[in-house]
Amino acid sequence: MNIEYRVGMMKVVLAYSGGLDTSTIIVLLKEKYDAEVITVTVDVGQKGELEGVEEKAYELGASKHYTIDAKKEFIEEYVFPAVKANALYEDKYPLGSALARPLIAKKVAEIAIQEGADAVAHGCTGKGNDQVRFDVTLKAYLGSEVDIIAPVRELRLTRARSIEILNKHGYNVSSIHKKFSIDENLWSRSIEGGILEDPMEEPPEEAFEWTKPYHEAPDHPLYLDIEFREGLPYKVNGEVYDEVEMIELLNGLIGSYGYGRIDYIESRVIGLKSREVYEAPAALTLIEAHKELERMVLTPKELRLKKYLDGLWTDLVYQGLWIDPLKTHLDIAIDSLNKYVTGKVKLKVYKGALVIVGRESPYSLYSKDLISYDEGWYPTSEEAEGFIKLYSLYSLTANKARKEVEN
Ligand code: ARG
Repeated sequence: MNIEYRVGMMKVVLAYSGGLDTSTIIVLLKEKYDAEVITVTVDVGQKGELEGVEEKAYELGASKHYTIDAKKEFIEEYVFPAVKANALYEDKYPLGSALARPLIAKKVAEIAIQEGADAVAHGCTGKGNDQVRFDVTLKAYLGSEVDIIAPVRELRLTRARSIEILNKHGYNVSSIHKKFSIDENLWSRSIEGGILEDPMEEPPEEAFEWTKPYHEAPDHPLYLDIEFREGLPYKVNGEVYDEVEMIELLNGLIGSYGYGRIDYIESRVIGLKSREVYEAPAALTLIEAHKELERMVLTPKELRLKKYLDGLWTDLVYQGLWIDPLKTHLDIAIDSLNKYVTGKVKLKVYKGALVIVGRESPYSLYSKDLISYDEGWYPTSEEAEGFIKLYSLYSLTANKARKEVEN
């Protein structure tokens, strides 16, 4: 964008987390872009970071601030569909940041329209996924010609420079934010940067907040019964919970037993491998439990299709294409397959390990009568042999035909 041709001060709506980069951006938008800054903080369950966010925005120079509580919407419209899709990117990452970005962008877009803003701004770097997610969703809501200002990307701002700028404005950056780049919401806590950029370096304990190290976890196991209705969790140990409370409860409880850490090499959208560390006790647990229930109620053919659709859904969302038309079709199919995912899963968590120890469902395809070696139905020898004969016919015929030509 070219601000020189603008008449008067432009009005910018900034997606403000209260963190290092976006705080610096308030200052930069005013000083370098000569803009009036309206900050929008979307509460997706990031807790600590929210404290004093409004005061900080005003102190750094915002003219107006909004804090929007979107926790319920985040769980219902973004996290729950991810549970239904067993969304683990590269079989590892439950997509916390990837799910929150389109929601934050939507809220920022709504405020931008309401305020008649000239531009929107965010704090993403030019090396990450979040810039893709923000830009794509903002364009979807505001039109592809929208002015998006991304000062970190445009000025190639380093974290050290951000710290310097904030210090100059009288802000002391907390030691944890000096060491790592953290992004937190109800679904996951991501810790990047600093010492973690060496992939051989074990993450130090201070990087973690939601999970206990194994040696500090209790000496007894935690048993959990999680009940699902049409693919969504609604009861824990027999008690019905509000969605947000349930996720908070599971994160706290399961994390305290040492489960929920992830440390892996991730393939970013823009073609870079990065070392990512996460904490996501509730997400990993709910997805494991949900998958197990699917194994019990879906036919093998349905399971194959489900895995394929889940993979497409997960990649789209990771890659910032929340608004892609394909997702609409995937959601319909994934919802349809979740119709039978009703029942209970029993889990055991002990010193950082999680195992499934029981499951039941009114739609169960498991039949004790059919499977038992001790009692109930038994195929006749003719039935079993006849099945095997026809079942193996292609394989045996092919081998024979090929052998005859080759010999
Ligand atoms: N690598 C993760 C993702 O792309 C986490 C991003 C975390 N964002 C951050 N600003 N620290 O979804």
